[in-house]
Amino acid sequence: MSTARGYFVSFEGGDGVGKSTHARLLGDWLGEVTGREVVLTREPGGTELGSVLRQAVLHGEDLDPRTEALLYAADRAHHVATVVRPALARGAVVVTDRYLDSSVAYQAGGRELGEGEVEDLSLWATGGLLPDATVLLDLDPVEAAGRLVGAPDRLERAGDAFHRRTREAFLRRAAETPQRWVVVDSAAPREDVQAQIRVDVAARLGLTPEVRA
Ligand code: TYD
Repeated sequence: MSTARGYFVSFEGGDGVGKSTHARLLGDWLGEVTGREVVLTREPGGTELGSVLRQAVLHGEDLDPRTEALLYAADRAHHVATVVRPALARGAVVVTDRYLDSSVAYQAGGRELGEGEVEDLSLWATGGLLPDATVLLDLDPVEAAGRLVGAPDRLERAGDAFHRRTREAFLRRAAETPQRWVVVDSAAPREDVQAQIRVDVAARLGLTPEVRA
């Protein structure tokens, strides 16, 4: 892996699986072991425009699935152009809480749009930028729903069948390209989950064994 640019890591999974906690812990650790700047960010809502889109898509009026897919893609295009690519060009480690695979799992798997179309839309939006490593925190959607606090947003209200399809889509994608994906059972104790993430992400990024010790 080239060291001329940074490292790009995404976290994926259903709602309530602990992505933001593990993204933060991994980002702190990667900063320590690589000595690089760490940019911790998220989708939707990693930019000022993104916050507006996030509010609209999660808490606004009902949306047709295509409108929903376009809003996530617009958020992603702006996020990549203004935050992710500039950070990678500086040599930073970018850790994002959700990226393109969320669109494939939620808008294709969940909303049942075409998987190829949804993926192509995001690839177009981002100029084809894929993460170096993607962590899937896998958890039964019923258990994950029990961990959520506060009033559910539009996506969290989508129903059990929707969330089961989303989980299956993530697992299918991970199985298709194992060289990019790290799949972790999120029901395990938090320290064990984070330890596995560190070892497997370091391997995907080509960090040396000394760094992992
Ligand atoms: P997230 O920020 O993980 O939710 P929370 O802050 O409540 O933990 O994600 C917001 C929701 O948006 C989540 O239900 C997944 C959904 N989503 C999509 O449907 N498609 C996408 O492309 C992305 C990025 C998120």
